[in-house]
Amino acid sequence: MAKRIITTDATEEDYRLEPGLRPQRLEDYIGQEKAKSTLKIFIEAAKQRHDSLDHVLLYGPPGLGKTTLAGIVANEMGVNIKITSGPAIEKPGEMAAILNNLQEGDVLFIDEIHRLNRQVEEVLYPAMEDFSIDIVIGKGASARSIRLDLPRFTLIGATTRAGMLTAPLRDRFGVVNHLEFYTEKELQTIVTRSAEVLKVQIDTRGALEISKRSRGTPRLANRLLKRVRDYAQVRYDGRITAAIAAEALDLLEVDRHGLDATDREILSLMIDKFGGGPVGLDTLAAAIGEDAGTIEDVYEPYLIKNGFINRTPKGRVATELACCHLGKAIPEAR
Ligand code: ADE
Repeated sequence: MAKRIITTDATEEDYRLEPGLRPQRLEDYIGQEKAKSTLKIFIEAAKQRHDSLDHVLLYGPPGLGKTTLAGIVANEMGVNIKITSGPAIEKPGEMAAILNNLQEGDVLFIDEIHRLNRQVEEVLYPAMEDFSIDIVIGKGASARSIRLDLPRFTLIGATTRAGMLTAPLRDRFGVVNHLEFYTEKELQTIVTRSAEVLKVQIDTRGALEISKRSRGTPRLANRLLKRVRDYAQVRYDGRITAAIAAEALDLLEVDRHGLDATDREILSLMIDKFGGGPVGLDTLAAAIGEDAGTIEDVYEPYLIKNGFINRTPKGRVATELACCHLGKAIPEAR
């Protein structure tokens, strides 16, 4: 699959760009009001008791600021953060070593926590519950288990799908927060703030134009801002207006609803070739030349969520909104 500019997975460039743009305090974190107010209370309570914060689970689509929020929690608590991810920890011993190296109150952030393997996950159960781990020493008949006490730490787990977590793990989180897609207004504020950090001049309508095309996702908004900045600098005097942002993003084929060329191709095919549907996923996939899983996991969710496609028992249907957006006539009787 070709790399899409609108992917919400972190790219190489994002790893370089994002740390500098991350807010450090809760008050500078825009949006996610529910998660923010919950965390604020728990942080204050823990600080008053001079205790570590309860374990926190953050779940929601990629690119919405889970790592950013974990960093802020550590900052607000005045502790260190150790960042790792589910797939990076392969053996129980590695997990034990990470836990044993934490200091009192530290935050351990595990991204993609649903991808921990079972044995590794089991080390976490007593660690989260009793702040201890059991280590087996020796082999065979002489093997014995010793209990090792750990400092009181806070685990912050992040996952795109809470449903993929095992029940024993999910149950050990005291605080569970769902992160939601951002509104255009919130993204506009984020773009404006990022532009300030990057020392880019942008007016409010320029920031709104970028935010409209960012699919509710700060990671994408920041990535598009950077591309538009380059365009404004090379073609104009560096200042981003709505017209310049629109021109740059049109060139990148990201339209005013945040759809890219492949999204539009899928919708066009559905309308032109299949009379707007219903069309089965496999048939659609074959017509586009992608596999069905990729369409279902990568392309379809945004199109469904934003009302361009409906999923019906008979197959996928392109909506009136899709037809209008592409300037096509609405197919009759379906
Ligand atoms: N950068 C990424 N996410 C952010 C947010 N929620 N607030 C401010 N800056 C951000």
